Amino acid sequence: MKPHFSQPADIKVAVVGYGGIYNMGRIHLQDVQKAGMTPRAAVELDAERLALAPKDFPGIQTYHTVEEMLAQSDVNLVILITPHNTHAPLALQCIAAGRHVVCEKPFAITTLECDTMIAAAEKAGVMLSTFHNRHWDGSVMKALEVVRSGLIGDIVRIECHMGQWNKPGDIWRASKSISGGILYDWGVHLLEYGLQLIQAEITEVTGYAKCGFWNAQTKWQADTIEDEGFAVVRFNNGAWLSLCITHIDANPKRGMFEVTGTKGSMVFEYDSHEIIVRDADKTVVTKGKNPKEQWERFYANIADHLTKGEALVITPEWARRPIHILDLADQSAREGRAITARYR
Ligand SMILES: NC(=O)c1ccc[n+]([C@@H]2O[C@H](COP(=O)([O-])OP(=O)(O)OC[C@H]3O[C@@H](n4cnc5c(N)ncnc54)[C@H](O)[C@@H]3O)[C@@H](O)[C@H]2O)c1
Repeated sequence: MKPHFSQPADIKVAVVGYGGIYNMGRIHLQDVQKAGMTPRAAVELDAERLALAPKDFPGIQTYHTVEEMLAQSDVNLVILITPHNTHAPLALQCIAAGRHVVCEKPFAITTLECDTMIAAAEKAGVMLSTFHNRHWDGSVMKALEVVRSGLIGDIVRIECHMGQWNKPGDIWRASKSISGGILYDWGVHLLEYGLQLIQAEITEVTGYAKCGFWNAQTKWQADTIEDEGFAVVRFNNGAWLSLCITHIDANPKRGMFEVTGTKGSMVFEYDSHEIIVRDADKTVVTKGKNPKEQWERFYANIADHLTKGEALVITPEWARRPIHILDLADQSAREGRAITARYR
């Protein structure tokens, strides 16, 4: 791609969403600054949250709506850090105004939304990406190193699971219509880890969902996320991956991510891992700490892409892959059958 800017400082950035749950607006703009780009504007519906942005970034423009920002600001890259069901409509609005866009994960909720966003960005000639910061988590970087070394052989299956026995909270993440469902938060990160490791095409997805146990006790009632979501993905090289996220597991299993290969297994948590291999008739276990995450590489790549034409690491087609799995898992759970994957 032809570079759009001659230097990173010319990339003027707006964040949409300066929310308080994890203070993600500030985290994004700090990484934007580290990559040499210019924080220019913050957009936030909540006046109290919006007032914090100029304290963190003196001189930054503030707006209550995306419309105002697009009409009045010279921003050329917009980062969407809002609840999941707003990603597609806000991205389409910014793309239509000729702005480059980064969406927080999940890229969107449905495959159709992803395809519409990708087509709009192609037509407008703007960059579209998703903040898959966990692409550079120490755990998955270590797992890639172990798999590439051949130590655990060829990958046969990956199992990812997270959750415990606890009531979903009252925040928007517990609303099915806003969040997309129980699998759309950490599930997207875990799938993105798995897709880095299993380098094959997705052929089919089966989904399962238990609903209704917590509904009556949450603010969202019938719109509460599933009590538990489960998906199984089949790949065209014979490997498979399972993902389980739960609010009804009184016996949570150790290790959020396990890779089973023909010669051994690797189990990891966020900070640590275990590699288990068979040596003749012995089982040899090696425990270690994971390397530090390198999230700053996301915006370094965005700046290099826009100024030097370097290849984008998190392409929109890459970001579509976990969403397609979740969309098919949702359909499968409703229809009670496996669903064949569709490629763009
Ligand atoms: N990549 C990661 O590690 C990571 C970590 C946390 C959150 N996230 C993602 O970030 C996104 C936001 O999550 P959060 O935890 O920061 O939520 P949050 O509720 O703390 O913040 C969202 C903010 O967006 C604002 N908002 C909503 N619609 C808006 C609009 N149209 N215009 C302007 N502001 C609007 C809300 O007022 C709110 O303050 C989600 O996609 C979530 O999955 C990613």
